[in-house]
Amino acid sequence: MNVLGVSCSPRKDATTERLVKEVLAGVDGADTEFVSLAGKKIGPCIACLGCVKDNVCVLKDDLADLRGKIVNADAYVIGGANYFSGLNGLGRCFLERWYQFRHREGKSVAGKVGVAVGVGGGDPKPVIEDIRTFFQYNQVECLADVVAQGAASCFVCGYGETCTVGAIHMFFGPGTKITDDIIPSLDKQPESLAAARAAGKALSDRLKKFAVGT
Ligand SMILES: Cc1cc2nc3c(=O)[nH]c(=O)nc-3n(C[C@H](O)[C@H](O)[C@H](O)COP(=O)(O)O)c2cc1C
Repeated sequence: MNVLGVSCSPRKDATTERLVKEVLAGVDGADTEFVSLAGKKIGPCIACLGCVKDNVCVLKDDLADLRGKIVNADAYVIGGANYFSGLNGLGRCFLERWYQFRHREGKSVAGKVGVAVGVGGGDPKPVIEDIRTFFQYNQVECLADVVAQGAASCFVCGYGETCTVGAIHMFFGPGTKITDDIIPSLDKQPESLAAARAAGKALSDRLKKFAVGT
């Protein structure tokens, strides 16, 4: 049995990646593999229907190398970031391309289980909703959600203290100084880390039942 964890954030080593890895760390008795989409070129589904005949997407980009990992996994941990109240675009493109598995009663992903991981500068919930909806379309049972607050780019862009449309003004008001104690970090969210470990455990418990056929 193996669990594929994917961070859809274009930022390497950021909150989404860390939280997905934390879920994988909670998995017990199954192999785990982590993939970051950061730096990968994955375009949207173009509805060409080139995948209908054999359930293999014909587009040539970095999704092609991930196809085998998706098919071979028994469970998924999909994590994404909130960009404008929805799953970030790279994650959306990645998941749209799972369209290739849906034709002619394709069973490559249907019947498997998953965990949805959502990160937002303010609100992670829209990401969870998107990933859950996606799982539903693909007949992947979502066993748990894990959410956390990540650091908006405004904390490090260099203009955060003065920019009137950024996260610092929005969350804390004008005149706020950026200090370590206001920068969101997973280390300050032990409940999210605990939820991540518990979600990993729930996945492995289900996989053990799959293994014995119950
Ligand atoms: C283009 C863009 C749009 C964003 N829109 C939102 C938003 O609508 N709501 C929100 O809560 N956070 C928003 N954020 C903040 C990110 O969700 C936040 O930085 C999060 O930590 C990103 O995940 P990561 O740290 O794993 O990269 C946005 C960030 C970017 C870059």
